Amino acid sequence: MRKAYKSGAFTVLMSLMLLVAACGGNNGAATNDKANEPAKTTTTTTTDSGTTTDKKIVFGFSQVGAESGWRTANTTSIQESAKEAGFDLKFSDAQQKQENQIKAIRSFIQQKVDVIGFSPVVESGWDTVLKEAKDAGIPVILTDRSVDSTDTSLYVTFLGSDFVLEGEKAGEWLVDQYKDTTEQVNIVELQGTTGSAPAIDRKEGFEKIIKDHDNLKIIASQTGDFTRAKGKEVMQAFLKSNKDIDVLYAHNDDMALGAIQAIEAAGLKPGEDIKIITVDGIKDGFQAASEGKINFIVECNPLFGPQLMDTIKDVLAGKEVPKRTVTEEGTFTIEQAKEALPNRKY
Ligand code: AHR
Repeated sequence: MRKAYKSGAFTVLMSLMLLVAACGGNNGAATNDKANEPAKTTTTTTTDSGTTTDKKIVFGFSQVGAESGWRTANTTSIQESAKEAGFDLKFSDAQQKQENQIKAIRSFIQQKVDVIGFSPVVESGWDTVLKEAKDAGIPVILTDRSVDSTDTSLYVTFLGSDFVLEGEKAGEWLVDQYKDTTEQVNIVELQGTTGSAPAIDRKEGFEKIIKDHDNLKIIASQTGDFTRAKGKEVMQAFLKSNKDIDVLYAHNDDMALGAIQAIEAAGLKPGEDIKIITVDGIKDGFQAASEGKINFIVECNPLFGPQLMDTIKDVLAGKEVPKRTVTEEGTFTIEQAKEALPNRKY
């Protein structure tokens, strides 16, 4: 049970959180018989003198950083929809550092927020801090990226993309492109942040699809940390040490956009001399695809803010929520990107 409920001055009888606590401190993933009641966006507290007040739901969110266009769109979506839902959002930017995220989560626990959300920069190393949140009775919602913890009771739900599937879609396009040739196709890969779920899974999905095609060879693979600057730097190094690169598979648009600068500086034509496959589908990526510089985009949707706020309301109302919700995503060829660009939202 949350320590807040034990303190003397106020008797907190709020309608939502007590219900969660009463479910046995099970991090809110619980059942209850109020499943059909409309979700609330406030908590109600009653003082010793019997006065009741409505308090905004306090939502602590630890974001990975601001490494990419995708991340910026995701942050905006979360901030805007928290505002719209009337939540008190405590937002913390971890600047791609796990220790900053752990600090932020501990600070949310100390502040006794109602719910914690975070997108884990890497997969491992979260058990201790997640146990602390659980012991404090604060439900945790994972967004975008998951953790590799075997104890799934440490979080209520995970809302985000299927990164393995994204890698598979990239691989399937490649296999189809080269189905009529037996000549070796030299692929270079720009991986996302080392140890992050999207880097691990997008690699796995891609390799799974191409592994039975002997002529499709990854000749170099290195992290570009999901940033444009690193994507450019690593691509320059790839171009220096590999004469015949046919394909670039970049785990996100930003790294591909950096790599495009390196390819052009080397006097080559991106999209023609080197075919480019990316993941995300940010506006800049769509722009490059409509100019023929990116050949195939696998979409990863960052705009799940409204869905996240609904999930929070449900969790705090004690409703059953699915342990995993996968965001829906498409793929785009050059022609499809051209058509979709004017209405692209992020
Ligand atoms: O976790 C999602 C990934 O993180 C996006 O694909 C990438 O652009 C971001 O930095």
